[in-house]
Amino acid sequence: MKAGSSCVTSEQQLEDIYDLLDQEIFFSKGGYVIPKRERAKIDATGGDATYGEVQASGVDVLLRHLAMDSSSVFVDLGCGRGRAVLQVAMHSTVRKAIGIELSESRLEQAEAALEVLQQQGVPLQPVELRHADLSSCSLQEGSHFYLCSTAFGAGICRSLAERLAASPNFQVLVTSRQLPTQPYLYNVSQVPCSFTYGQNGRAYIYVKSLAAAPVATLARVWCRDGVCWLPGSSSQLQLGLSVDEPLFDTRPVLDLKWDRSGEVAEKGQQQQHVLQEVRVFGDAEE
Ligand SMILES: C[S@@+](CC[C@H](N)C(=O)[O-])C[C@H]1O[C@@H](n2cnc3c(N)ncnc32)[C@H](O)[C@@H]1O
Repeated sequence: MKAGSSCVTSEQQLEDIYDLLDQEIFFSKGGYVIPKRERAKIDATGGDATYGEVQASGVDVLLRHLAMDSSSVFVDLGCGRGRAVLQVAMHSTVRKAIGIELSESRLEQAEAALEVLQQQGVPLQPVELRHADLSSCSLQEGSHFYLCSTAFGAGICRSLAERLAASPNFQVLVTSRQLPTQPYLYNVSQVPCSFTYGQNGRAYIYVKSLAAAPVATLARVWCRDGVCWLPGSSSQLQLGLSVDEPLFDTRPVLDLKWDRSGEVAEKGQQQQHVLQEVRVFGDAEE
């Protein structure tokens, strides 16, 4: 399948490929250890050279909540050996998946992994791996971002939040730890997510503002896969759903418009609705 077309790869295929990458690339090139001069460069930016990764199941969580489509550009801010970037390129229809990394040796591992996947003919969306410093690089091209914020100090997190909020293309950021209190981004939810350093981690989902939040992401946050089971047949309801994930406390100022899905599946007295539109009133963006 050509790059640019939709990608479907089974979970097992993916695991096999990463097992192979672990053996052939990761272990043979020094694993998590990076040269002292790379470590010093990273420390100087306010980053942390300690390594850990989001697990494959965690990338699935990112994919679900980022709700990207073929116009989206995904960016992993500090992509390490590129596993999340490559999984996104394999399992989504994004226009491009970008990894930004300051450590040359980690970036080399990501490039080698990409090469193996390409040689094996694994269907991939376009991938770009960039050697750059997150504290100063451009973020303009990306629409959907992931930051393993556990590995970054407050200064660099704040700088990233400020620059993302000012970027016209930015839509959603997922982080592995709550960002320090800052006025630039709005946290819509947090969901369970697994990392190599913690199976019971969380992913924090940020948007520029509620009003600017993509409906697809809000639907993922508030419903199961964008579909909600609501009583009755009204297409315009105030939010009052039974969902598994925590909601934030600005419900009264939201007006959510639902459409009954084409083929209405009935579940007891409830009907399936799809979130179509979110309107925000009052001070929801504060
Ligand atoms: C904890 S790892 C996360 C890897 C990957 N994002 C994941 O979650 O699977 C963080 C990565 O950020 C990189 N990093 C730290 N400071 C950086 C900076 N200023 N610019 C670019 N990359 C940086 C580190 O080298 C490391 O590979």
